[in-house]
Amino acid sequence: MHRFQRKNGLLYAEGVSLDGLADRLGTPLYVYSAGTILDHYRRLRRVLRALDPLICYSVKANSNLAILSLLARAGSGFDVVSGGELERVRKAGGKMERCVFAGVGKTDDEIEAGLRFGVKAFHVESEEELDQIATVSGRKKGRRAPIALRVNPDVEAGGHAKITTGTYENKFGIPFEQVAATYRRAGGDPRLCLRGVQMHIGSQITRAAPFRAAVRKMMPLVERLRDRHGLEYFDVGGGLGIVYEDALASGRDSWWNTPKADRSMTLPDYATSLVPFLRELKMKILLEPGRFLVGNAGVLVSEVLYRKDNGRKHFTVVDAGMNDLVRPSMYEAYHQIEPVGKPRPGALFTDVVGPVCESSDVFCRDRSISPLERGDRVAILSAGAYGFSMASNYNTRPRPAEVLVTGTRARVIRCREAMADLWRGERKS
Ligand code: LLP
Repeated sequence: MHRFQRKNGLLYAEGVSLDGLADRLGTPLYVYSAGTILDHYRRLRRVLRALDPLICYSVKANSNLAILSLLARAGSGFDVVSGGELERVRKAGGKMERCVFAGVGKTDDEIEAGLRFGVKAFHVESEEELDQIATVSGRKKGRRAPIALRVNPDVEAGGHAKITTGTYENKFGIPFEQVAATYRRAGGDPRLCLRGVQMHIGSQITRAAPFRAAVRKMMPLVERLRDRHGLEYFDVGGGLGIVYEDALASGRDSWWNTPKADRSMTLPDYATSLVPFLRELKMKILLEPGRFLVGNAGVLVSEVLYRKDNGRKHFTVVDAGMNDLVRPSMYEAYHQIEPVGKPRPGALFTDVVGPVCESSDVFCRDRSISPLERGDRVAILSAGAYGFSMASNYNTRPRPAEVLVTGTRARVIRCREAMADLWRGERKS
């Protein structure tokens, strides 16, 4: 369960008032709940306990050092996709032998860093990349490069086209039909060490069927590869969806406690549809959840600047923009928006928009929310995943501060960017 709730009408993150934080630190402001992240991590482990999986948190969802450190202390591994994310995990105290290195375009420098730091494995996305990893490893003459191939199982995951990854329309992975031959080739290479096999079919998946279909399709192949090449693990990727609608009002936050009638998958459904197959494999199982762990553990707090009405539509202009949280403009993603203070009686249909000079800088359209006035604050919910990590400086706007709440304690885990940060590294002439 997430730990954002109203107390005497005011919105709190665990034991800390969001209005109080905004008074102290300004807006826009990302606020995360440590208790929620740990709760999600533990629930996932518990429901899959028959597998004793290694959970490799997908760093791209939220890469703040404090969040990585929190998860590292809970025993989590990590899924990284760049040299930068790898360095973050190291800095946060994450164990390298629990860290997998993915991504379709690893550079030589990144491959070298992965080898030097001793990652668990590179998740390889093409034949050519495999050759390059072997070449770099051969140059270093150190430990063999540990690898797992990312298989594209060509399974439809549903959801938004921009975040589906497991079909042949997408750039990811090695085609299912070619995988066995690629392992055979890799198996004969003394510079490589074959450790596992990986898949990832998409993100924000709210039904068990695509996961089940992909795992069932993969099983015979994985068994063959395990026997032929002594593979240790099968990594089933991330993609577990969360509830974005009514996350606060109904107290629901992820599909483990969502009534079956309106969502087809609960967390136990996910477990029961996968565990029996995966247990049979007698291999280590890895997962790479991102959104599931942190999505509903964060909100973006913003202040109302202006209201305007052009006769056709009503607009509420807030001080957060698409540069701070791009999901609504990029994917037409729904995020619930709640007043931080006591909701006023009545309702108003409004577009909540940001200050950025783009028509798509819109957090919601024609949404009925309680009437807001200049100076009121709103919380944009479920902003813990792909929020700050996708933020930019577009329109030369400093990125927000980030705060981590644990009980009644709030800690700034990233300072608001200063003006001087905005042109750091630039030269006038
Ligand atoms: N593993 C791999 C190989 C991935 O590509 C991803 C996400 C994950 C794990 C974690 O997926 P998750 O459990 O968070 O669904 N920016 C988009 C989502 C992009 C997901 C990219 N890959 C959004 O805001 O919805």
